[in-house]
Amino acid sequence: MQSYSLFAPAKINLHLEIIGDRPDGYHELVMIMQSVALGDVIDIRANGKEETRLFCQNPQVPLDNTNLAYKAVQLMQTNYPTPARNFGGLDIHIQKNIPVAAGLAGGSSNAAAVLVGINLLWGLGLTQPELRDLATYLGSDVPFCIAGGTAIATGRGEEIEPLPDLDNIWVILAKYSNISVSTPWAYKTYREQFHDLYVQDSHGVSQRTHAVHSGELVRAIAHRNSKQIGALLYNDLQKSVLPEYPEVENLINSFKKQNVLGAMMSGSGPTVFALCENEDQANEIKNIIQKQINDPNLELWVTKMCAHGITTIETK
Ligand code: C5P
Repeated sequence: MQSYSLFAPAKINLHLEIIGDRPDGYHELVMIMQSVALGDVIDIRANGKEETRLFCQNPQVPLDNTNLAYKAVQLMQTNYPTPARNFGGLDIHIQKNIPVAAGLAGGSSNAAAVLVGINLLWGLGLTQPELRDLATYLGSDVPFCIAGGTAIATGRGEEIEPLPDLDNIWVILAKYSNISVSTPWAYKTYREQFHDLYVQDSHGVSQRTHAVHSGELVRAIAHRNSKQIGALLYNDLQKSVLPEYPEVENLINSFKKQNVLGAMMSGSGPTVFALCENEDQANEIKNIIQKQINDPNLELWVTKMCAHGITTIETK
């Protein structure tokens, strides 16, 4: 029986702007998303049984249908019942390298890999836009994770337009293992605190009166101007998250005091990322921050922007 080994990269948000709230409880967003080379490896194969089984070395990862990867299997089984019956259950091994519940879309990227893997395994021949449409049912970040790279995401986050690739900027990721932030809480708190920024339109959708505009950052990306990219990082969710988590704000400020291109929280946090010109600088600053903060709960990684989403590593 054939099996596929897929690479599922993490993402950071270079820009996350909340431009309105919607009657369905979600928010209208303008995001610039960026894949990074830190990723999980997903092995997927038919197991000759009826049930699908998830395996992961990290005990924080649920192995039941609360895992988005499992939901991705169920979505494909519902949409393609004949191959689902013919192939039966799947064994999916997740080698977890992306920190869990971190604002790095680890779970979303795993789910995207399962969609891509099932498409290959069952020989469905679905195109990338078709996979993206399916991904929309799983979560707001899953559609981006399919093709990855650098992209602008609007709507709930599911409408994706690719931008010129960035892969020459190094990234330090930093996360306190003892802090986790609830994404619904971060959005809800933002909505409560900043509601006066919005006006209702005739469809009941409220729109922000003063948009921040991501155009300058898009221009900087087109010119691969890393200094400007670093200076233009933006995340509205910092306004609701940082006052509750002063350690995260302190971490951002510690990075900013070093000679980084820019530093910010990714998504709803708590992971902070700092952009650097090269690998040596990134390693040097990582060591400085580790010594300076000197907290055993602080974990740091050095990685690089990458120009792709889910890729096949091996077919057996
Ligand atoms: O789509 P996903 O399940 O990943 O979203 C997680 C949570 O983030 C949602 O339940 C919602 O609270 C919040 N969210 C939002 N607006 C978006 C995307 C996510 O309010 N556009």
